Amino acid sequence: MAKPSHGWTGRKQAEAEAYGLPYDPDHAALARRLRERLRSGDGFTVVRGTPARTMTTAQAQELAVSMIRPLGDPLPQGEGAERTTGWLVRDERVSQYTDDRRFHEVAYTSKSRGDLHLHNDMAVTPFGAEPAYLALLAHRVARRGGESVLADGAMVHHTLGEEYPRELGLLRTPFAFDRRHVTPAGESPVVWGPAFAEHGGHLRVRCNVRRMRSAYDLLGQPLPPDRRAAIDALEEVLSRSALSITVALEEGDCLVLNDQRILHGRTAYEDHEPLGRRRCLIRVMAAESPTRQRVPDDSSA
Ligand SMILES: [Fe+2]
Repeated sequence: MAKPSHGWTGRKQAEAEAYGLPYDPDHAALARRLRERLRSGDGFTVVRGTPARTMTTAQAQELAVSMIRPLGDPLPQGEGAERTTGWLVRDERVSQYTDDRRFHEVAYTSKSRGDLHLHNDMAVTPFGAEPAYLALLAHRVARRGGESVLADGAMVHHTLGEEYPRELGLLRTPFAFDRRHVTPAGESPVVWGPAFAEHGGHLRVRCNVRRMRSAYDLLGQPLPPDRRAAIDALEEVLSRSALSITVALEEGDCLVLNDQRILHGRTAYEDHEPLGRRRCLIRVMAAESPTRQRVPDDSSA
């Protein structure tokens, strides 16, 4: 299988360390540079030095949404009173595990401080949408840990093709994903889609091994052995440290990624005690708008 032309491994990225982009208060100009990197470059970048560090949380939320809007249409997250386009990723004492250490499928992992396995958000069509872009603006950082971990879905796909061709064949067919924590009102908590598909000439990844497994609890069915083997293969490849990089965000940095290609996770962290000092990232999810899809490199965006 041919190597993806823009694919990267952790080692290659660590050597290059070329993923930073200086903040530009002209958000339209910034979005043009972002789009280039997200669509045909590494698939992610870190915008360095935004003024979020000196802002209130509400101002930082506004900044994050304003920065991403020229790139794509910000998507609402949450339900009811907590619905917002600038979601606070902050420990609100929600554990992603239940007391018996079983993964807690209903809790928002964005509101906890445990480590988080590699996944992409589009995998579960959060709140009924399929985000193209994901931004995480570091407003406050943790006392220790809480780094972002990234892997290139194109390289995960390539590695599976080389070493697990049979399992990859199955991963290209629809799998069930448990999305009970982000189910739109009146819709099914299980959503189906292939883990890897071609879409408009690009690879489109849906990856969340925990939620692929737990979907079968919701379906009330045993996970078929061949599907279990395919998920195991995906998990094994994701566990290879050579494929991923760890990115420490400083206050004011904004990680922006192509959520349909790049997988993200995080390391566990120790936090400050007062809520106002706790690690706080502002998450913006954005869809590719139809007009931008028609003109991918639209310079007026
Ligand atoms: Fe996520």
